[in-house]
Amino acid sequence: MLEISKRQWLVGAAAAAALIAAPAAALAQQPIVIKFSHVVAPDTPKGKGAEKFKELAEKYTAGKVKVEVYPNSTLYKDKEELEALQLGAVQMLAPSNSKFGPIGIKEFEVFDLPFLLPNLDALRKVTEGPIGKRMLKLMDSKGMVGLAYWDNGFKQMSANKPLKSPADYKGLKFRIQSSKVLEAQFRTLGAVPQVMAFSEVYQALQTGVVDGQENTWSNMYTQKMHEVQKFITETNHGYIGYVVVVNKKFWDGLPADIRTQLDKAMAESTQYANNQSAKENEDAKADIVKSGKTTILTPTAAEVAEMRKTMAPLYDDMGKRVGKELIDEVVKAVGGQS
Ligand code: LMR
Repeated sequence: MLEISKRQWLVGAAAAAALIAAPAAALAQQPIVIKFSHVVAPDTPKGKGAEKFKELAEKYTAGKVKVEVYPNSTLYKDKEELEALQLGAVQMLAPSNSKFGPIGIKEFEVFDLPFLLPNLDALRKVTEGPIGKRMLKLMDSKGMVGLAYWDNGFKQMSANKPLKSPADYKGLKFRIQSSKVLEAQFRTLGAVPQVMAFSEVYQALQTGVVDGQENTWSNMYTQKMHEVQKFITETNHGYIGYVVVVNKKFWDGLPADIRTQLDKAMAESTQYANNQSAKENEDAKADIVKSGKTTILTPTAAEVAEMRKTMAPLYDDMGKRVGKELIDEVVKAVGGQS
């Protein structure tokens, strides 16, 4: 009798232990979730980079990490997404260089200087060299870790009137990203800059809240901006690129082997994204041409020279904002002001 009841007790205890252990085991198998929020369409250099990172991160960690990509500002708009990352509501973002100023990192606005980069090779000399590494470290003090630089491409100007020489910009309202260098750029041209979230640009152009904007071919095409702008001038005057950032507490708290695999996924998706960004933009330009919904203008050499000359004082003026030494270093690394 005693034997039976002892056995019964053991069986009962084992069952109870299994019940307690079950949620813990289930929990141990729960993947680590990385929410990757961004503001552009999936079919863009950044959108494709994010999808590639998802694919590789999930593969290399054998499903221990799950990456949820939220494109098109579905979770957060420009400024909110950085706050959300700092608070840990999302784990990963790739804001453009122009968007870190409002949280106190002004140095990345150096990439907004007009006519800084003759091509992407010149950019790589900065981002892949000691300057780029040092700049990524700036993210640490803001609760983030900077993992990589991703390209979009070169910016073009658009409006409902032809924009060729500086005089054409006078008095027009332009949507800008939240960068003081971009603000100064449009003020130098006699225009009125207005900071606005990316997700609001199409409607602002459509309703005339602003007259024009600057962006890459892929961003213009995927947001249909060309449908509400009569002219796009192929100025290639500036560059849009991104810094992939993660929440520092989250990143530092990951098991080391997982972080190693994620680093590998990031390195490969960076290479993937940057290898095809130029083509993405060429294709988007071709699609815009094909749509017939806007007129693309090519400025003459004299018009380009006039634009450069008008904007050249920014290299000195913006020293106060982004650091004179940094501007000098970057200009030197890219082979001089282009
Ligand atoms: C913009 O706001 O125009 C861009 O930074 C959007 C983006 O992320 O490419």
